[in-house]
Amino acid sequence: MVGANGHGRSHRRVVAPLHAAGRLRLVALVDVRPIEDDPAAPVPDGTLVCTDHREMLRTARPDVVVVCTPPHTHLPIALDVLAAGADLLLEKPPVLSTAEHRELAAALAATGRACQVGFQALGSAALTELAEAVRAGRLGTVTGIATVAAWQRPDAYYARAPWAGRRTLHGRPVLDGALANPLAHAVMQCLAVAEAAGNGPVEPVRIEVERYRVRPIEVDDTATLRVLSRSGPPIVAAVTLAGEDFVAGEVLVTGTAGRAVLEYPTDRLLLPGDAGWREVPGRRGLLENLLDHRADRAVPLIAPLARTAGFTAVLEAVTAAPEPTPLGGDLVTVAGDGPGRVLTVRGINRLLRRSADEGALLSELAVPWAVPPHRTDLTGGEKPQRTATQPPA
Ligand SMILES: NC(=O)c1ccc[n+]([C@@H]2O[C@H](COP(=O)([O-])OP(=O)(O)OC[C@H]3O[C@@H](n4cnc5c(N)ncnc54)[C@H](O)[C@@H]3O)[C@@H](O)[C@H]2O)c1
Repeated sequence: MVGANGHGRSHRRVVAPLHAAGRLRLVALVDVRPIEDDPAAPVPDGTLVCTDHREMLRTARPDVVVVCTPPHTHLPIALDVLAAGADLLLEKPPVLSTAEHRELAAALAATGRACQVGFQALGSAALTELAEAVRAGRLGTVTGIATVAAWQRPDAYYARAPWAGRRTLHGRPVLDGALANPLAHAVMQCLAVAEAAGNGPVEPVRIEVERYRVRPIEVDDTATLRVLSRSGPPIVAAVTLAGEDFVAGEVLVTGTAGRAVLEYPTDRLLLPGDAGWREVPGRRGLLENLLDHRADRAVPLIAPLARTAGFTAVLEAVTAAPEPTPLGGDLVTVAGDGPGRVLTVRGINRLLRRSADEGALLSELAVPWAVPPHRTDLTGGEKPQRTATQPPA
């Protein structure tokens, strides 16, 4: 494992029982900082601990490497792992641009290795049930997919790592931000439902994004996004880390025969005709699935790199967008102090909910502080198809 603290500790907690059960053997932990103790993930005797992943690849010769380092370090480490002949579990966002995605995909093809990307919510049984309902036509024709999430992140969150709240670090793109990082799963779940609705991978043709921030950061803490794709329905994401009330993350799928809602962090599902929310427990683990895939290549990966191409296109469009518009004055409420200080945007929950419900960006809802979206056209001149939920240009 490369990157053993931070979110790496969650991976260590997944690895520990698999190691204890003999399903795998943890051979090495790499981190540029000292490895933190974790009672639920003790470091087994004989584990190589070092600071350089290349030294680890030479010495430990692993079969599988979990890469959980900051996003801007993913590509070079991933390429070294593949060149050393190991398979990869690469944290999200896998890479920062479409060019990097292509480079990694080419390395996978050349080495014949596998790459699973850390979108763990794709292993959810609730998502699978929703996708099956969409494919079976239970919602009729899907006309729109949207996600709404409202979280609160205190000052301490933006001090967690050197790349927190940053767009570049030492001249290199890093891209933190609500859409790119904590709520990336919300966007990816929408793309996964769009795959089911459009019968194949999502190829974005136009991406529109509006980014806002309540803090002196370089990235969005509040954003609305629209993705129009070649074959799937339009997707709208309406998210904030400065929410007034907590909304865990809902994926709304609207069809001609009804609407389904998935609360993706809790795997609760509401399909047309259901009397109420249903918990659909069961998540297939990304690492175990990668091990199954290694044992039998007929077992498909849950989150292969190829499945994340649409997400990377979104990320690239977000990177290309201007700096987020600052929100302040009466619009922002401050509560608490010190590392626990929280900033919220007045009325944001109601606005984001409307955005998701109506498939509209904030600027299309006559919000006085909203700015026009940044548009990325990926059609190369060809016109994106108009759809029922797409507003006039
Ligand atoms: N799937 C999820 O739900 C989820 C949740 C949180 C974070 N993440 C992702 O996990 C990754 C790591 O995030 P984080 O918040 O833990 O970041 P972090 O900055 O805390 O880094 C994680 C660890 O990597 C180490 N590290 C940095 N550069 C390294 C290098 N070159 N070689 C070895 N170790 C190195 C750091 O010292 C740290 O211990 C990111 O890609 C992030 O987006 C995913």
